[in-house]
Amino acid sequence: MTSLNYCSTHYGLFTLRDHGTRINGIRNYYSTNFGFAYLGDALDLCRKLPKSSVNLILTSPPFPLVKKKEYGNEDPDKYVDWFKRFVPEFRRVLKRNGSLVLHIGGNWNRGSPTKSLCIYELLLELSKTFHLAQDFYWYNPAKLPSPSEWVSVRRIRVKDAVDTIWWLSKVAYPKASNRRVLTPYKPGMVKLFQNGYKPGARPSGYNITKKFKRQNGGAIPPNMLMFSNTNSNDRYLTGCRDAKVEPHPARYPIGIPDFFIRFLTTRGDVVLDPFGGSNTTGFAAEELGRRWLAFELRENYLEGSKLRFESLLDERR
Ligand SMILES: C[S@@+](CC[C@H](N)C(=O)[O-])C[C@H]1O[C@@H](n2cnc3c(N)ncnc32)[C@H](O)[C@@H]1O
Repeated sequence: MTSLNYCSTHYGLFTLRDHGTRINGIRNYYSTNFGFAYLGDALDLCRKLPKSSVNLILTSPPFPLVKKKEYGNEDPDKYVDWFKRFVPEFRRVLKRNGSLVLHIGGNWNRGSPTKSLCIYELLLELSKTFHLAQDFYWYNPAKLPSPSEWVSVRRIRVKDAVDTIWWLSKVAYPKASNRRVLTPYKPGMVKLFQNGYKPGARPSGYNITKKFKRQNGGAIPPNMLMFSNTNSNDRYLTGCRDAKVEPHPARYPIGIPDFFIRFLTTRGDVVLDPFGGSNTTGFAAEELGRRWLAFELRENYLEGSKLRFESLLDERR
Protein backbone atom coordinates (compact mmCIF):
# COMPACT_ATOMS: atom_id res chain seq x y z
CA MET A 1 0.00 0.00 0.00
CA THR A 2 1.28 3.43 -0.90
CA SER A 3 2.16 5.60 2.06
CA LEU A 4 -0.56 8.14 2.67
CA ASN A 5 1.65 10.60 4.43
CA TYR A 6 3.53 12.21 1.61
CA CYS A 7 0.76 14.37 0.34
CA SER A 8 -0.03 17.49 2.21
CA THR A 9 0.78 19.72 -0.73
CA HIS A 10 -1.37 22.25 -2.52
CA TYR A 11 -2.08 21.12 -6.09
CA GLY A 12 -4.44 23.72 -7.44
CA LEU A 13 -7.72 21.85 -7.72
CA PHE A 14 -7.86 21.32 -3.99
CA THR A 15 -5.53 21.14 -1.08
CA LEU A 16 -5.00 17.65 0.14
CA ARG A 17 -5.93 17.32 3.78
CA ASP A 18 -8.26 20.28 3.33
CA HIS A 19 -11.32 18.15 3.58
CA GLY A 20 -13.51 21.18 3.90
CA THR A 21 -13.04 21.58 0.15
CA ARG A 22 -16.19 20.95 -1.82
CA ILE A 23 -16.96 21.12 -5.51
CA ASN A 24 -18.84 24.43 -5.47
CA GLY A 25 -20.45 23.78 -2.15
CA ILE A 26 -21.39 20.17 -2.79
CA ARG A 27 -20.71 17.88 0.10
CA ASN A 28 -18.57 14.87 -0.75
CA TYR A 29 -19.91 11.44 0.18
CA TYR A 30 -16.56 10.30 1.53
CA SER A 31 -12.94 11.23 1.21
CA THR A 32 -9.48 9.82 1.78
CA ASN A 33 -6.09 11.50 1.80
CA PHE A 34 -6.03 11.35 -1.99
CA GLY A 35 -9.59 11.65 -3.16
CA PHE A 36 -13.23 12.60 -2.95
CA ALA A 37 -16.31 10.60 -3.91
CA TYR A 38 -19.50 12.44 -4.79
CA LEU A 39 -23.07 11.21 -5.06
CA GLY A 40 -24.86 12.69 -8.05
CA ASP A 41 -25.18 12.97 -11.77
CA ALA A 42 -21.85 13.01 -13.63
CA LEU A 43 -22.91 15.83 -15.92
CA ASP A 44 -24.01 18.13 -13.08
CA LEU A 45 -20.88 17.41 -11.09
CA CYS A 46 -18.53 17.85 -14.07
CA ARG A 47 -20.08 21.26 -14.65
CA LYS A 48 -18.96 22.25 -11.16
CA LEU A 49 -15.32 21.31 -11.78
CA PRO A 50 -12.83 23.98 -12.78
CA LYS A 51 -11.63 24.05 -16.38
CA SER A 52 -8.40 22.14 -17.13
CA SER A 53 -8.29 20.58 -13.67
CA VAL A 54 -8.06 16.87 -14.49
CA ASN A 55 -5.15 14.92 -15.97
CA LEU A 56 -7.04 11.73 -16.75
CA ILE A 57 -10.70 10.80 -17.09
CA LEU A 58 -10.81 7.05 -16.84
CA THR A 59 -14.17 5.39 -16.83
CA SER A 60 -16.46 2.58 -17.79
CA PRO A 61 -19.82 4.19 -18.54
CA PRO A 62 -23.05 2.20 -18.62
CA PHE A 63 -22.87 0.15 -21.82
CA PRO A 64 -25.54 0.28 -24.53
CA LEU A 65 -27.13 -3.02 -23.50
CA VAL A 66 -30.35 -4.61 -24.70
CA LYS A 67 -30.42 -6.75 -21.54
CA LYS A 68 -30.05 -4.03 -18.93
CA LYS A 69 -28.13 -4.12 -15.64
CA GLU A 70 -29.90 -3.07 -12.43
CA TYR A 71 -28.49 0.49 -12.67
CA GLY A 72 -30.14 0.93 -16.05
CA ASN A 73 -28.48 1.25 -19.45
CA GLU A 74 -29.29 3.40 -22.42
CA ASP A 75 -30.81 1.72 -25.46
CA PRO A 76 -28.28 1.22 -28.26
CA ASP A 77 -30.24 3.49 -30.62
CA LYS A 78 -30.15 6.36 -28.10
CA TYR A 79 -26.66 5.72 -26.81
CA VAL A 80 -24.63 8.18 -28.90
CA ASP A 81 -27.08 11.01 -28.10
CA TRP A 82 -26.96 10.12 -24.41
CA PHE A 83 -23.16 10.07 -24.34
CA LYS A 84 -22.74 13.21 -26.45
CA ARG A 85 -24.02 15.36 -23.59
CA PHE A 86 -20.92 14.56 -21.54
CA VAL A 87 -18.34 15.25 -24.26
CA PRO A 88 -18.03 19.08 -23.98
CA GLU A 89 -17.69 18.81 -20.19
CA PHE A 90 -15.08 16.04 -20.41
CA ARG A 91 -13.12 18.20 -22.82
CA ARG A 92 -13.46 21.30 -20.66
CA VAL A 93 -12.26 19.73 -17.41
CA LEU A 94 -9.32 17.92 -19.01
CA LYS A 95 -5.92 19.56 -19.05
CA ARG A 96 -4.45 20.24 -22.49
CA ASN A 97 -2.21 17.16 -22.39
CA GLY A 98 -4.78 15.06 -20.53
CA SER A 99 -6.45 11.83 -21.65
CA LEU A 100 -9.91 10.34 -21.72
CA VAL A 101 -9.90 6.56 -21.44
CA LEU A 102 -13.22 4.86 -22.09
CA HIS A 103 -13.94 1.20 -21.53
CA ILE A 104 -17.03 0.24 -23.49
CA GLY A 105 -17.97 -3.34 -24.25
CA GLY A 106 -19.62 -4.11 -27.56
CA ASN A 107 -23.27 -5.11 -27.74
CA TRP A 108 -25.41 -7.42 -29.85
CA ASN A 109 -28.45 -6.53 -31.90
CA ARG A 110 -31.70 -7.57 -30.27
CA GLY A 111 -32.79 -11.08 -31.31
CA SER A 112 -30.04 -11.44 -33.91
CA PRO A 113 -26.61 -13.09 -33.95
CA THR A 114 -25.08 -9.83 -35.20
CA LYS A 115 -23.25 -7.10 -33.39
CA SER A 116 -24.35 -3.50 -33.10
CA LEU A 117 -22.11 -0.78 -34.49
CA CYS A 118 -23.26 1.66 -31.85
CA ILE A 119 -19.94 1.88 -29.99
CA TYR A 120 -18.16 2.63 -33.27
CA GLU A 121 -20.70 5.34 -34.02
CA LEU A 122 -19.79 6.77 -30.64
CA LEU A 123 -16.09 6.60 -31.50
CA LEU A 124 -16.71 8.50 -34.73
CA GLU A 125 -18.66 11.10 -32.76
CA LEU A 126 -15.83 11.40 -30.20
CA SER A 127 -13.30 11.77 -32.99
CA LYS A 128 -14.88 15.16 -33.80
CA THR A 129 -13.59 16.38 -30.44
CA PHE A 130 -10.65 14.14 -29.51
CA HIS A 131 -7.76 12.34 -31.15
CA LEU A 132 -7.83 8.57 -30.94
CA ALA A 133 -4.40 8.19 -29.32
CA GLN A 134 -4.71 4.40 -29.38
CA ASP A 135 -7.27 1.65 -29.22
CA PHE A 136 -6.84 -0.98 -26.52
CA TYR A 137 -8.52 -4.33 -25.99
CA TRP A 138 -9.23 -6.04 -22.71
CA TYR A 139 -9.19 -9.81 -23.02
CA ASN A 140 -10.98 -11.52 -20.16
CA PRO A 141 -10.18 -15.25 -20.40
CA ALA A 142 -12.72 -16.00 -17.66
CA LYS A 143 -15.65 -14.46 -19.55
CA LEU A 144 -18.68 -16.76 -19.65
CA PRO A 145 -20.00 -17.83 -23.07
CA SER A 146 -22.49 -15.21 -24.13
CA PRO A 147 -24.90 -14.41 -25.67
CA SER A 148 -25.81 -17.96 -24.68
CA GLU A 149 -28.39 -18.36 -27.48
CA TRP A 150 -25.76 -17.93 -30.20
CA VAL A 151 -22.71 -19.25 -28.39
CA SER A 152 -23.67 -22.21 -26.21
CA VAL A 153 -27.14 -23.19 -27.46
CA ARG A 154 -26.99 -22.85 -31.26
CA ARG A 155 -23.15 -22.80 -31.35
CA ILE A 156 -22.99 -20.38 -34.25
CA ARG A 157 -20.80 -17.75 -32.60
CA VAL A 158 -17.76 -17.97 -30.33
CA LYS A 159 -17.28 -16.55 -26.86
CA ASP A 160 -17.20 -12.74 -26.90
CA ALA A 161 -14.26 -12.19 -24.56
CA VAL A 162 -12.72 -8.89 -25.66
CA ASP A 163 -13.88 -5.37 -24.75
CA THR A 164 -12.71 -2.17 -26.40
CA ILE A 165 -10.93 0.56 -24.46
CA TRP A 166 -10.31 3.82 -26.28
CA TRP A 167 -7.56 6.17 -25.28
CA LEU A 168 -8.57 9.63 -26.49
CA SER A 169 -6.74 12.91 -26.10
CA LYS A 170 -7.11 16.62 -26.74
CA VAL A 171 -3.69 16.85 -28.41
CA ALA A 172 -1.67 14.37 -30.46
CA TYR A 173 1.03 14.14 -27.77
CA PRO A 174 -0.79 13.67 -24.44
CA LYS A 175 1.22 12.98 -21.31
CA ALA A 176 2.25 9.30 -21.49
CA SER A 177 5.21 7.05 -20.89
CA ASN A 178 5.30 3.33 -21.60
CA ARG A 179 8.35 3.18 -19.32
CA ARG A 180 5.89 3.25 -16.42
CA VAL A 181 4.06 0.12 -17.58
CA LEU A 182 6.88 -2.21 -18.58
CA THR A 183 6.24 -5.90 -18.03
CA PRO A 184 8.76 -8.64 -17.15
CA TYR A 185 10.69 -9.96 -20.17
CA LYS A 186 9.52 -13.32 -21.50
CA PRO A 187 11.97 -16.22 -20.90
CA GLY A 188 12.78 -16.29 -24.66
CA MET A 189 13.82 -12.65 -24.57
CA VAL A 190 15.94 -13.16 -21.47
CA LYS A 191 17.69 -16.02 -23.31
CA LEU A 192 18.26 -13.74 -26.29
CA PHE A 193 19.91 -11.15 -24.06
CA GLN A 194 22.13 -13.88 -22.63
CA ASN A 195 23.03 -15.67 -25.86
CA GLY A 196 22.97 -12.77 -28.30
CA TYR A 197 21.37 -12.68 -31.77
CA LYS A 198 22.26 -11.59 -35.27
CA PRO A 199 21.08 -8.08 -36.19
CA GLY A 200 19.58 -7.64 -39.66
CA ALA A 201 16.37 -7.80 -41.65
CA ARG A 202 13.89 -10.56 -40.83
CA PRO A 203 11.63 -12.21 -43.47
CA SER A 204 8.75 -10.07 -42.16
CA GLY A 205 10.70 -7.00 -43.29
CA TYR A 206 11.28 -5.93 -39.67
CA ASN A 207 14.84 -4.76 -39.20
CA ILE A 208 16.34 -5.98 -35.93
CA THR A 209 19.10 -3.53 -35.05
CA LYS A 210 21.84 -3.74 -32.43
CA LYS A 211 19.68 -1.55 -30.18
CA PHE A 212 17.24 -4.45 -29.84
CA LYS A 213 19.67 -6.06 -27.44
CA ARG A 214 19.57 -3.17 -25.02
CA GLN A 215 17.76 -4.08 -21.83
CA ASN A 216 15.24 -1.40 -20.90
CA GLY A 217 14.05 -2.73 -17.58
CA GLY A 218 11.14 -4.66 -19.04
CA ALA A 219 9.12 -5.38 -22.15
CA ILE A 220 6.85 -2.78 -23.77
CA PRO A 221 3.31 -4.07 -23.31
CA PRO A 222 0.93 -4.55 -26.24
CA ASN A 223 -2.46 -2.84 -26.56
CA MET A 224 -4.16 -6.12 -25.62
CA LEU A 225 -4.52 -6.23 -21.85
CA MET A 226 -5.35 -9.54 -20.24
CA PHE A 227 -7.08 -9.59 -16.85
CA SER A 228 -9.58 -11.99 -15.36
CA ASN A 229 -12.37 -10.59 -13.28
CA THR A 230 -12.48 -13.50 -10.90
CA ASN A 231 -10.64 -12.47 -7.77
CA SER A 232 -13.27 -13.38 -5.20
CA ASN A 233 -10.92 -12.59 -2.33
CA ASP A 234 -10.17 -8.98 -3.03
CA ARG A 235 -10.81 -6.45 -0.28
CA TYR A 236 -14.00 -5.16 -1.88
CA LEU A 237 -15.66 -8.56 -2.29
CA THR A 238 -14.70 -9.83 1.14
CA GLY A 239 -15.91 -6.49 2.55
CA CYS A 240 -19.23 -6.89 0.71
CA ARG A 241 -19.59 -10.45 1.96
CA ASP A 242 -18.90 -9.43 5.57
CA ALA A 243 -21.22 -6.42 5.38
CA LYS A 244 -23.89 -8.43 3.49
CA VAL A 245 -23.84 -5.86 0.70
CA GLU A 246 -24.57 -6.80 -2.92
CA PRO A 247 -21.37 -6.13 -4.94
CA HIS A 248 -21.53 -3.82 -7.95
CA PRO A 249 -22.62 -5.93 -10.97
CA ALA A 250 -20.23 -4.41 -13.55
CA ARG A 251 -16.85 -3.76 -11.97
CA TYR A 252 -13.70 -3.77 -14.01
CA PRO A 253 -10.59 -5.47 -12.63
CA ILE A 254 -8.16 -3.20 -10.79
CA GLY A 255 -5.51 -4.04 -13.42
CA ILE A 256 -7.26 -1.79 -15.96
CA PRO A 257 -7.18 1.48 -13.98
CA ASP A 258 -3.79 0.55 -12.55
CA PHE A 259 -2.34 0.25 -16.08
CA PHE A 260 -3.78 3.50 -17.48
CA ILE A 261 -3.08 5.56 -14.37
CA ARG A 262 0.58 4.53 -14.39
CA PHE A 263 0.85 4.97 -18.16
CA LEU A 264 -0.80 8.39 -18.41
CA THR A 265 -0.19 10.17 -15.10
CA THR A 266 2.43 10.75 -12.43
CA ARG A 267 2.13 11.12 -8.66
CA GLY A 268 -0.09 13.98 -7.58
CA ASP A 269 -2.02 14.15 -10.88
CA VAL A 270 -5.82 14.14 -10.77
CA VAL A 271 -7.83 11.17 -12.05
CA LEU A 272 -11.60 11.46 -12.49
CA ASP A 273 -14.07 8.59 -12.86
CA PRO A 274 -17.46 10.17 -13.65
CA PHE A 275 -19.26 6.78 -13.64
CA GLY A 276 -17.55 5.50 -10.52
CA GLY A 277 -19.61 2.41 -9.61
CA SER A 278 -17.66 0.62 -6.89
CA ASN A 279 -14.82 3.14 -7.30
CA THR A 280 -12.21 0.71 -8.61
CA THR A 281 -10.59 3.71 -10.31
CA GLY A 282 -10.34 5.75 -7.11
CA PHE A 283 -8.83 2.82 -5.28
CA ALA A 284 -6.19 2.24 -7.97
CA ALA A 285 -5.38 5.98 -7.95
CA GLU A 286 -5.09 5.98 -4.17
CA GLU A 287 -2.64 3.09 -4.25
CA LEU A 288 -0.54 4.87 -6.88
CA GLY A 289 -0.44 8.22 -5.08
CA ARG A 290 -2.65 10.05 -7.59
CA ARG A 291 -5.46 12.32 -6.44
CA TRP A 292 -8.89 11.14 -7.52
CA LEU A 293 -12.51 12.19 -7.91
CA ALA A 294 -15.32 9.69 -8.32
CA PHE A 295 -18.95 10.44 -9.20
CA GLU A 296 -21.77 7.93 -8.91
CA LEU A 297 -25.51 8.28 -9.29
CA ARG A 298 -26.57 5.46 -6.99
CA GLU A 299 -25.99 5.72 -3.29
CA ASN A 300 -25.87 1.97 -2.66
CA TYR A 301 -22.87 1.60 -4.99
CA LEU A 302 -21.06 4.52 -3.42
CA GLU A 303 -21.79 3.21 0.05
CA GLY A 304 -20.45 -0.23 -0.98
CA SER A 305 -17.36 1.36 -2.54
CA LYS A 306 -16.30 2.64 0.88
CA LEU A 307 -15.51 -0.97 1.74
CA ARG A 308 -12.49 -0.74 -0.58
CA PHE A 309 -10.88 1.89 1.58
CA GLU A 310 -11.63 0.71 5.11
CA SER A 311 -9.06 2.41 7.35
CA LEU A 312 -8.22 5.08 4.75
CA LEU A 313 -11.55 6.84 4.96
CA ASP A 314 -11.46 10.31 6.33
CA GLU A 315 -14.22 10.94 8.80
CA ARG A 316 -13.89 14.75 8.55
CA ARG A 317 -16.31 15.27 5.68
C1 LIG B 1 -20.19 0.15 -15.71
S1 LIG B 1 -20.53 0.86 -14.17
C2 LIG B 1 -18.95 1.39 -13.59
C3 LIG B 1 -18.26 0.30 -12.82
C4 LIG B 1 -16.91 0.72 -12.26
N1 LIG B 1 -15.92 0.87 -13.31
C5 LIG B 1 -16.42 -0.30 -11.23
O1 LIG B 1 -15.36 -0.92 -11.45
O2 LIG B 1 -17.12 -0.50 -10.24
C6 LIG B 1 -21.30 2.37 -14.58
C7 LIG B 1 -21.83 3.17 -13.36
O3 LIG B 1 -22.27 4.43 -13.83
C8 LIG B 1 -23.33 4.85 -12.96
N2 LIG B 1 -24.06 5.92 -13.66
C9 LIG B 1 -24.94 5.83 -14.67
N3 LIG B 1 -25.35 7.06 -15.09
C10 LIG B 1 -24.69 7.95 -14.31
C11 LIG B 1 -24.67 9.37 -14.25
N4 LIG B 1 -25.40 10.11 -15.07
N5 LIG B 1 -23.85 9.95 -13.34
C12 LIG B 1 -23.11 9.22 -12.48
N6 LIG B 1 -23.09 7.87 -12.49
C13 LIG B 1 -23.86 7.24 -13.39
C14 LIG B 1 -24.13 3.57 -12.74
O4 LIG B 1 -24.92 3.66 -11.58
C15 LIG B 1 -22.99 2.53 -12.66
O5 LIG B 1 -22.64 2.28 -11.32
